[in-house]
Amino acid sequence: MALKHPRVLLLGGSGFVGRHLAAELANRGHRVTLPCRHPDRIKALSVLPGLNIIAETDITQPQALDRLTRDQDAVINLVGILNERRKGDFRRLHVDFPQAVVEACQKNGVPRLLHMSALGADQASGSSLYLRSKGEGENRVHTFGQKKLGVTSFRPSVIFGADDSFINRFAALLRLCPWPMPYLPLSCPQARFAPVYIGDVVRAMADSLEDPASIGQRIELCGPETWTLQQIVESIRDALGKRCLILPLPDGVSRVMASLLQHAPGKPFTPDNYLSLQTPSVCATVCPQCRHRLSHFLKGLSGGHNRRPRLDDYRRH
Ligand SMILES: NC(=O)c1ccc[n+]([C@@H]2O[C@H](COP(=O)([O-])OP(=O)(O)OC[C@H]3O[C@@H](n4cnc5c(N)ncnc54)[C@H](OP(=O)(O)O)[C@@H]3O)[C@@H](O)[C@H]2O)c1
Repeated sequence: MALKHPRVLLLGGSGFVGRHLAAELANRGHRVTLPCRHPDRIKALSVLPGLNIIAETDITQPQALDRLTRDQDAVINLVGILNERRKGDFRRLHVDFPQAVVEACQKNGVPRLLHMSALGADQASGSSLYLRSKGEGENRVHTFGQKKLGVTSFRPSVIFGADDSFINRFAALLRLCPWPMPYLPLSCPQARFAPVYIGDVVRAMADSLEDPASIGQRIELCGPETWTLQQIVESIRDALGKRCLILPLPDGVSRVMASLLQHAPGKPFTPDNYLSLQTPSVCATVCPQCRHRLSHFLKGLSGGHNRRPRLDDYRRH
């Protein structure tokens, strides 16, 4: 975008990626509107220059989307879920909502849309409902966005950072070691990832806003290292200085764990998550701008990990 201070609407901006992207865009002088359901939870972001956080009870309502997309130079859609609360949520949020975003952009003359998909997303042959719905949403924005709208989509592997939910979840479990938990049973230990650093992800997205050559592209984002889940969890354990046996569960037991844990509060692991992990989350092509290594990041892990994002993080960013 050639504009000096472009107006950007950030949908799904209250989540992990959104908070970092809001900071990146604000630091580049963009004027960012961030509608969200719980503005109190991201109060710390209000220190960012040019960021306007607004309370919006339901951005999926067509009237809200219509109002929000007026007078914007670009829209970024990060809305996504890992598990359905109600049957049909994947379709509603990953397929219908992105299409509604495209239509609202076209109606209101927004010229640019960035859409967040996921590595392995595939409408026809994704291994899980999550991956199929993400794939269908990605196809919709590219197909329906062809007219008058410059669309770029992003397909990251798992994303890590100080306030992520991936590394933090295992770090929190491992902190219970060795007592009361002398060992950690691990489902799908051979699942493969190329974890990508949050700073690299948001830089790639913000760069693409300014790069017309990225229009029409589906950009894969992977870090420089490939890991199995077992290796990642062992490295977190070592970084935390914990003595704990990581117990790899065989495939059948992993499936049983998924069907049990889907009923636990917060659904920590579901059959659909199990199916997603059957697809290696690694890139076919090298991502030149994704240079930060998970191994370096984990060396900096201490007992103090799992902190909430602090004001200083955003200032430094
Ligand atoms: N993190 C990763 O490792 C990773 C990897 C690959 C792809 N992705 C994709 O990247 C995107 C962002 O991920 P993230 O890690 O930032 O996720 P996140 O922290 O869970 O944030 C998700 C965002 O979506 C919003 N959202 C969810 N359900 C909604 C609903 N019914 N109505 C309105 N807003 C809703 C959330 O709003 P509330 O705060 O109000 O709930 C939040 O702003 C997602 O599309 C995800 O699929 C993430």
